[in-house]
Amino acid sequence: MDRHSQQLTTLYEISKLLGASLDLNKTLKGAMKALSDFLDMQRATVALVEGGEVIIKAAHGLTIEELQLGRYKLGEGIIGQVAKSGYPIVVPNIGDEPVFLNRTGSRKDISKNNIAFLCVPIMFKRDVLGVLSVDRLFADATASFDVDLRLLKIIASLIAQHIKLSRQVEQEVQGLIAERDTLKVELKSRYRIENVIGKSSIMQEVFEAVHRVAGSRATVMITGESGTGKELIAKAVHYMSPRAKQPFIKLNCASIPEGLLETELFGHEKGAFTGAAGVRRGRFELAHRGTIFLDEIGDLSLGLQPKILRVIQEREFERVGSERTIKVDVRVIAATAKDLVRLVGEGGFREDLYYRLNVVPMFLPPLRQRKEDMDELIAFFLAKFNKENSTSVEISPEVMNSMAEYWWPGNIRELENTIERLVIMSPGKMVQPRDLPLNIRTAASHIQGHKITPLNQAEKEGIIDALKTTDWIYAKAAKLLGITPRQIGYKVKKYGIGRGQS
Ligand SMILES: Nc1ncnc2c1ncn2[C@@H]1O[C@H](COP(=O)(O)OP(=O)(O)OP(=O)(O)O)[C@@H](O)[C@H]1O
Ligand SMILES: [Mg+2]
Repeated sequence: MDRHSQQLTTLYEISKLLGASLDLNKTLKGAMKALSDFLDMQRATVALVEGGEVIIKAAHGLTIEELQLGRYKLGEGIIGQVAKSGYPIVVPNIGDEPVFLNRTGSRKDISKNNIAFLCVPIMFKRDVLGVLSVDRLFADATASFDVDLRLLKIIASLIAQHIKLSRQVEQEVQGLIAERDTLKVELKSRYRIENVIGKSSIMQEVFEAVHRVAGSRATVMITGESGTGKELIAKAVHYMSPRAKQPFIKLNCASIPEGLLETELFGHEKGAFTGAAGVRRGRFELAHRGTIFLDEIGDLSLGLQPKILRVIQEREFERVGSERTIKVDVRVIAATAKDLVRLVGEGGFREDLYYRLNVVPMFLPPLRQRKEDMDELIAFFLAKFNKENSTSVEISPEVMNSMAEYWWPGNIRELENTIERLVIMSPGKMVQPRDLPLNIRTAASHIQGHKITPLNQAEKEGIIDALKTTDWIYAKAAKLLGITPRQIGYKVKKYGIGRGQS
């Protein structure tokens, strides 16, 4: 091969190398090797400008130690001068050149060999990114290096583009990594509540509100369908607040008979009414310095609403049968599955009380609107009930799918009950679709279209299934499905469900 074809081959090899990868160290080293292999060039190096210095980054024909010595200040030595000026320098015979530093010490006896040193800048637009240099061996002293120099300039410009590109990509990658990491940190460190699952954005908003409000005494109003976790969130607010060590007192406004509610809330004096043998402290008193949780506040009778309003406003009340005013420091959290706004509109709930309670509203979305949380919730309950029962039941992917398709009218409570039942009842280690309650199975197959079942057929089967599992106890079946016993009764009638049914 003549010198011209050798040069073309070298160029071709180098451009191939540079195109193959963006790993600067690897490609530059390969390019330097190509220079020595094809042309009579030894010790080819690429030095890059970094913070006022020029540092050899890749070389062929230098040992690692020699390579590490290759550092120059801008303007220092020949490499430094080229980096500073942006013009090539040719030293026809380094043995004659006093500026030649031989810093790396790689040329053992310079005077004995005919070595020229060719050094060209690596430029991108008007910036000097670095310096490409080679030792060119030559036989006769009249040799001209013009052709070599032109070739090196072409190679330098290829390298320049390569460096630019790989730096740009590197920056983008770093940017993406940084972005990802900050996102991760945000997700991890903010908005976590122990034993409450909720990575879906809709739940993250709730968590954020809990974190923000926990430190204050602000009244919180939690709404959401049955079984969505209202009580769990109420407790989270309390246990994340400075009142955590004080009592959390719950009062279910729906389950206490109207006549007893007042004494439940405020207590009574001895002899306040027939049978009131001793003094009794009410829930508000018990909750002093802690939190009172008024569950199902939508069921509070109109007669009692003004009394509750007064405690919330004044933080004071009297025991039944007493004139003495008791002052308490309580935080109030209320919850309801009812549509309070509608109730207010219909006159079933006092507007002033509504506004007193609704200081910090929190809405818990139904489970079907946070399917992103399903997998984690299932894993959470599976672990819980496996631990309780010393089992290691697992759930097959098909079952997971069916559960993801199901409507979950009873929300998390229904999911929790379902998993508990599966863990206890599962004949094998792996829960199969046939182990699922009928209502979940039929709803899933309805949606998946394997079997076209009218929705109310699925509902009917679901109710029969729930009744069977609970021995036809309406209250239990209703709880399982997350509906009220009255709704069950209504549906039993509607579908003509009877015990004989299968
Ligand atoms: N995000 C969640 N992560 C883990 N468990 C949850 C979550 N939400 C609810 N649960 C569990 O589901 C069950 C029902 O929750 P909770 O009693 O708080 O619901 P609720 O909204 O008060 O229901 P209801 O309106 O019927 O009183 C509880 O056992 C609770 O621990
Ligand atoms: Mg509740």
